[in-house]
Amino acid sequence: MIDAILKRRSVREYLDEPVSDEDILQLLEAARLAPSGNNKQPWHFIVVRSLETRQALAHADHDQTWMLSAPVFIVCLADATTRIQSERDLYIDEQTSRFEVKQVIRDTAIAIDHILLQAAELGLGTCWTGFYRQADVRPILNIPADKFVVGILTVGHPAAQPTSRPRKSLEEITHWERWS
Ligand SMILES: Cc1cc2nc3c(=O)[nH]c(=O)nc-3n(C[C@H](O)[C@H](O)[C@H](O)COP(=O)(O)O)c2cc1C
Repeated sequence: MIDAILKRRSVREYLDEPVSDEDILQLLEAARLAPSGNNKQPWHFIVVRSLETRQALAHADHDQTWMLSAPVFIVCLADATTRIQSERDLYIDEQTSRFEVKQVIRDTAIAIDHILLQAAELGLGTCWTGFYRQADVRPILNIPADKFVVGILTVGHPAAQPTSRPRKSLEEITHWERWS
């Protein structure tokens, strides 16, 4: 596992080479097996290959045009209706402070990390992106207002292995028994 963790980098430059459905399904299988609170499994994934759709998504995602060198995007959604039932016309977005929404986003983030790590294991590059507003992404993919877009992942064969970004030291983040 530590090998895949060490191998994973945010890749922002991809080869002009397709990614097979089999590989995509292996990524989603890794996501499917992720843990979640109450085993709610609140995640959904939209696999996007269409250039036109990827262009619209990259544009909504702060015009990050580098994304377009990736042949596949995976749009990762948290489904609030797994926690909030019987509320008609449920609308969630960045301003929603409800705990249930935090729960489904938390769980979906775990599944997303499974995707990133499984991709590294398969030699694929990925980058989690999140520089968009819900209201801009939803209409592109016909996403209902009770789903939250947790991340748009680029997936492809890396054109280069980026150097590793710095991390805080273990000492900085570790506390024994209590905060201080
Ligand atoms: C929630 C989230 C959102 C991110 N959004 C973007 C983004 O919009 N654009 C981008 O280039 N990288 C994005 N990143 C990648 C981070 O910049 C990257 O993970 C961080 O710098 C550490 O580098 P590494 O992933 O190569 O270890 C995002 C990562 C996360 C986890």
